[in-house]
Amino acid sequence: MIKSEWIEKGYVNEPIPEGIDLKSEIRRLCKEKNAVIMGHYYTRSEIQDVADFVGDSLALAQQAAKTTADIIVMCGVHFMAETNKILCPDKLVLLPDLNAGCSLADSCPADELAKFKEEHPGYKVLAYVNTSAAVKAHTDIVVTSSNAKEIVDSLPLDEKIIFAPDKNLGGYLNSVTGRNMLLWNGGCHVHEQFSVEKIVELKAQHPQAKVLAHPECKSAVLALADYVGSTAAILSYAKSEECGTFIVATESGILHEMQKCCPQKTFIPVPPMNGGCACNECAYMRLNTLEKLYNCLKYEWPFVELDAQLRERAKLPIERMLEISAKIKK
Ligand code: 13P
Ligand code: SF4
Repeated sequence: MIKSEWIEKGYVNEPIPEGIDLKSEIRRLCKEKNAVIMGHYYTRSEIQDVADFVGDSLALAQQAAKTTADIIVMCGVHFMAETNKILCPDKLVLLPDLNAGCSLADSCPADELAKFKEEHPGYKVLAYVNTSAAVKAHTDIVVTSSNAKEIVDSLPLDEKIIFAPDKNLGGYLNSVTGRNMLLWNGGCHVHEQFSVEKIVELKAQHPQAKVLAHPECKSAVLALADYVGSTAAILSYAKSEECGTFIVATESGILHEMQKCCPQKTFIPVPPMNGGCACNECAYMRLNTLEKLYNCLKYEWPFVELDAQLRERAKLPIERMLEISAKIKK
């Protein structure tokens, strides 16, 4: 029985039984229920350690599309759980805390995008995966930061394109593809906070270090980067480069995997402009805790539900993305 108290909070707030080993109980529940835990690189390290699969937005969608589990627990944010539900409508998709939203997805309300589209007939809409299902339903092709450039490149040169919602990623794509896409004015509150001054200072202190930046960062940050790429691309660059020190301008959760993969290398997170805060952490991602993960597996709540028609409309642009991505890989 789902309690009204849980609904009010958006997660199961039952006390955890005393003395249990949370990680092994989580794994036991997964086995018992044929559940799979997926985690984004930006979630807490203890969640990454207990997950079956950790990846960036593209890898998480690809993994969801092929899982044989009955239950998917998405330890990320709401749009990621929605994407899983769209790709796996018959599976139970759990999100440990329904409050795990995304400032970038919130910056693009579906009705406003629909209006913008109407004002620009003949334009194709490319939307970043960081959008609601309702926005995806107005989209021609979904992209992630891992495949956006290749997907833009796959379109005819004279194609008129609206890119939503991240203006920084859109601006970066315009610069590397030579396009002139119309950009939605949205952004991520984490990636927009990185301090240019701090990067310059860090570079002066570590002249050999390479600066890695996510394309959701502002152009002034990207201009200082030795390498710009998605979370997964930044990670593989750090693994393959001989350099021993990296200055990392993306959400600091990725440092856990970086350090795990390259224990001998040093990774320095770029602090935000307001040095005193923890703004290089995504507060939404951090809402996923081991306690909420355990409870949501135990009670099989909160789950994500979507209207069947909306799901079908949102599925098409995601499938187009997965198809183009698969071709790009070959
Ligand atoms: P990627 O997972 O594509 O790197 O995107 C980062 C992000 O902000 C996820 O919310
Ligand atoms: Fe959204 Fe930014 Fe958090 Fe990613 S890091 S989930 S884009 S708010």
